[in-house]
Amino acid sequence: ATERTLAILKPDCVRKELIGTVLARIQDAGFAVRALKMITLSKREAEGFYAVHEDKPFFDELTDFMSSGPCVPVVLEKENAIADFRTLIGATNPDEADEGTIRADFADSISTNIVHGSDSVGNGQKEASYFFAEHEIVANRAA
Ligand code: CMP
Repeated sequence: ATERTLAILKPDCVRKELIGTVLARIQDAGFAVRALKMITLSKREAEGFYAVHEDKPFFDELTDFMSSGPCVPVVLEKENAIADFRTLIGATNPDEADEGTIRADFADSISTNIVHGSDSVGNGQKEASYFFAEHEIVANRAA
């Protein structure tokens, strides 16, 4: 089925001037960009987005990093988008990411790992609505 996933090009991606490179990888893999913006999250907004991780030992480090500079949330659409995007970006820890994945090629560590992707269809919807109103997400273009 056609699915949506919410990607975030993280502050390390923006600082390394890799927005275009990473977006090109994503689009070349067949993902359609339906919404995109560049914003700097407040610490509180980062905590809200990652609320599911609030009990994890890395929560403070994660939300400090995610609010450390601009990031680029992107709504992506594709057949099987959730699983295919996770394959494209590779394992959370770049040391464990398959060769040729975005994280293997560009990420420095498990916390500065270049990009986020939703882990389920339900979370994709929830995460997209954290950043975008429904009217800001472009409808599927007619062929
Ligand atoms: P992401 O896909 O954005 O979802 C949660 C993030 O927490 C994850 O990518 C990692 O960047 C980060 N994370 C997961 N495990 C650790 C860890 N052990 N130490 C630091 N950050 C982590």
